[in-house]
Amino acid sequence: MKKNIMKNLTPSQIVTELNKYIIGQDDAKRAVAIALRNRWRRQQVAEGIREEIMPNNIIMIGPTGVGKTEIARRLAKLTGAPFYKVEASKFTEVGYVGRDVESMIRDLTELSVNMVKAEQTELVQEKANKIAEEKILDLLIPPVKTPPKPVAEGEVPEESEAVRNEKTRVWMREKLRKGELDEKMIEFDTTTGGIGMQVVGPFGMDDMGINIQEIVGSMMPKKRKKRKTTIKEARKILAQEEAQKLIDMDNVQKEAIKRVQETGIVFLDEIDKVAGNSKGGHGPDVSREGVQRDLLPIVEGSTVNTKYGPVKTDHILFLASGAFHVSKPSDLIPELQGRFPIRVELKSLTEEDFIKILTIPENALLKQYAALLQTEKVEITFEDEAIREIAKIATIVNEEVENIGARRLHTILTTLLEDILFDVPDKMPDGKIKINGEMVNEKLDSIVKNRDLSKYIL
Ligand SMILES: Nc1ncnc2c1ncn2[C@@H]1O[C@H](COP(=O)(O)OP(=O)(O)O)[C@@H](O)[C@H]1O
Ligand SMILES: [Mg+2]
Repeated sequence: MKKNIMKNLTPSQIVTELNKYIIGQDDAKRAVAIALRNRWRRQQVAEGIREEIMPNNIIMIGPTGVGKTEIARRLAKLTGAPFYKVEASKFTEVGYVGRDVESMIRDLTELSVNMVKAEQTELVQEKANKIAEEKILDLLIPPVKTPPKPVAEGEVPEESEAVRNEKTRVWMREKLRKGELDEKMIEFDTTTGGIGMQVVGPFGMDDMGINIQEIVGSMMPKKRKKRKTTIKEARKILAQEEAQKLIDMDNVQKEAIKRVQETGIVFLDEIDKVAGNSKGGHGPDVSREGVQRDLLPIVEGSTVNTKYGPVKTDHILFLASGAFHVSKPSDLIPELQGRFPIRVELKSLTEEDFIKILTIPENALLKQYAALLQTEKVEITFEDEAIREIAKIATIVNEEVENIGARRLHTILTTLLEDILFDVPDKMPDGKIKINGEMVNEKLDSIVKNRDLSKYIL
């Protein structure tokens, strides 16, 4: 087990890590770093006062595509925390048709269960592979059941069947490991796959934390089923099945719930869409306020029933985000405002930022494309002039068509590189491509100049 997966990074360490992926937005980085550390601090203080300390939930305010989600996602990733992102506008008030607010905690828990399960599966995988291998060998060379023949006195015992069998097994195992038997067909018993029955409960049952699948599943005998596949496939299926048997699901669920409660992060996107605007009035505002009222107990700390057991939300970190073009954070109901005491503004990205975003982060787009093409033994490089042109075009299109922030870089690069991605590897004999400013202009200028065209293409 990756013990203590939640590395207790200090705020400055967190910011340093975030800097590897996100350009600028220093205020937001500092705020989330403090919030994360404060959660840990809060968990350390004595019980009496702990309840008095409010969590540091944050509202991130800023236009689209400037890094709000990315900051939250990276934060979760670098601490190994379960992370769930959801649009607040997807929820409707209790009693209305739509997702109820508590479902986000169930989804977060589900995610955590899968995460822990994957980790534990990895730990037993090698053992499971070995068992699967032996099972296949059993099928190829059934073990001997007859006891060795009694040997008369003075006689040289002939090689027993068991010994011979074992020798064949060793030889066969070798072949199996080398993959020489991969394509051979084999028939075997399995409980996984093939049954293919999905039980769909009455509407909303899952939303109430009841696992119909499990209830019905446990009432039915586990059905073994014969399957015939290649040996390669059979090894995979059997290894998976064995791994499932080796992990302790009770333990997985317990650990998963613990992780959600102590380290979980919920990202509530588009919170501005459930903020009524100050004018008051009727209609949709009523239900928006209802969603906020439903959110409140969860953010304040309550217990949500999930199919894996009750989950306490007291220490879950909530990060909300929104553009707040129409409404303002002060349009949220006061109680909810109180639960999101920290507000940070994220800035629009400049042309200079785009240049950095293209080149600096560990997952920078240009690095991604270089890695993709590297698989075809093609080396692509971008001259500074080209990078500047791409950043400039992104800024222009954002201004003239629609501001989608750094997402614009994705659309521009796919257009710019489309031909190359198509032609590689057939038409790239020397394996080197150099993109210069002129090439960028040639490819994109006409599209940028034609507004309608750029609307569709970029
Ligand atoms: N400041 C930034 N630094 C690096 N990449 C960024 C930045 N802002 C946005 N991006 C990239 O742009 C895309 C969209 O960003 P995202 O965080 O989802 O935007 P939003 O602010 O709308 O949540 C992501 O691929 C992200 O990596
Ligand atoms: Mg977003």
